[in-house]
Amino acid sequence: MVFTKNSFGDQFSWGVSAAAYQTEGSHLSDGKGLSIWDVFSGIKGKINQNHHAQTACDFYNAYEGDIDLIRELNIPNFRFSVAWSRIFPAGTGQINQKGIDHYNKVIDYCLEQNVEPWLTLYHWDLPHALELKGGWTNRDIVSWFLDYVELCANKFGDRVKNWMVLNEPLVFTGAGYFLGIHAPGRTGLKNFLPAVHHATLCQAQGGALLRDLLPEANIGTTFSCSLVEPFSQKQRDVNAAARVDALLNRLFIEPSLGLGYPYQDIPFLRQIEKYFQPDDADKLKFDFDFIGLQNYTREVVRYSLFTPYMHAKLVGALKRKVPVTAMKWEVYPQSIYEMIKKFNGYNQVKKIIITENGAAFPDELVNGEVDDPLRVSYLENYLSQVVKAKQEGLKIDGYFVWTLTDNFEWAEGYHPRFGLIYIDFDTQTRIIKSSGKWYRDFLAGKS
Ligand code: NOJ
Repeated sequence: MVFTKNSFGDQFSWGVSAAAYQTEGSHLSDGKGLSIWDVFSGIKGKINQNHHAQTACDFYNAYEGDIDLIRELNIPNFRFSVAWSRIFPAGTGQINQKGIDHYNKVIDYCLEQNVEPWLTLYHWDLPHALELKGGWTNRDIVSWFLDYVELCANKFGDRVKNWMVLNEPLVFTGAGYFLGIHAPGRTGLKNFLPAVHHATLCQAQGGALLRDLLPEANIGTTFSCSLVEPFSQKQRDVNAAARVDALLNRLFIEPSLGLGYPYQDIPFLRQIEKYFQPDDADKLKFDFDFIGLQNYTREVVRYSLFTPYMHAKLVGALKRKVPVTAMKWEVYPQSIYEMIKKFNGYNQVKKIIITENGAAFPDELVNGEVDDPLRVSYLENYLSQVVKAKQEGLKIDGYFVWTLTDNFEWAEGYHPRFGLIYIDFDTQTRIIKSSGKWYRDFLAGKS
């Protein structure tokens, strides 16, 4: 399909996304407290090649140059996150003014460069001091989180108009509190279920508090989502796919819309009620101004007797011999269209913004240049599915590429490179990849 920036209309928000822990480095500078990711990545064997993010992209110091690059690429909106432990080193209580000063500088610099800041409040780097008190499994996290939201709203809300409460709650609860492959490395339902419930409460209560304090703000939250399809049309594969779809795509949005948790498709979820207090059903609801969708791939699912709770397993892309990215995720552009359509099916949802889409490929620096045609065609193909949704009249209001620069990809370390801009991590040199140039020209209306 041939399309240009104009095909999306002039109200469409174009941007690029990043996150504090993946880019900032300076993990102890200016009074910052440790986060769960500082601690987790210090444990041998947790991260690919024992990488950590003590320096990462040095965005803490290099933010001016990176925001200059955003402007050079014609990108009008920049989504980034605040590291909670920079402004509350112990998670709650004592405020660290230097942390607040830092984000004020970043926000002001964005605005000076005509780049609109979009702030994510929680992109996975919980203050370690709070994890020592139970982290997301402790219901007190609701009041810790609301204190943090209030401070951010009061300090940044005069200039930041666009807010996202949580980033991908399924991933930080699932990988961090059930599978143990992300910080803080906890496992099992006894950690997962309270973490899910408390994150859903924080999602809604955080949104509501922002709305009270900043009535004019554009308030959203972001969800990971993937098209889920059965491996075969056998009834047990179809049912397994429905369970996985409920877990991956419905668990966090439905309670916020007043639909409750999707018990029918995931019976074991009923145990979450153990963590309920009176009135929680209401406290889980909030009418977000927009929903951020983050889509990369699709999942193919088959029944499995031996997988506890879900009785379902994912059939990996390599096994299916389909095209993959460096994350071994299937390249499947229709997934983004199907997700836009699926979330349009909730008619309470007011706006949908793709707050992340992008791909890691094995980029190479050759004669000072990084040519990444696979990323260019990935972005073009996914965008053509977004246009299709738009042309069919579905709600779709923005698109942000993940991500500006190569950075710390969590348990995978630095190897999967997702950036529009290449970083030589030894020298911190930035080199705009051909995908960055492609996005720049696309945003200028040239292609
Ligand atoms: C989701 C996360 O929000 C982000 O932190 C991560 O780097 C990308 N997807 C790619 O995996």
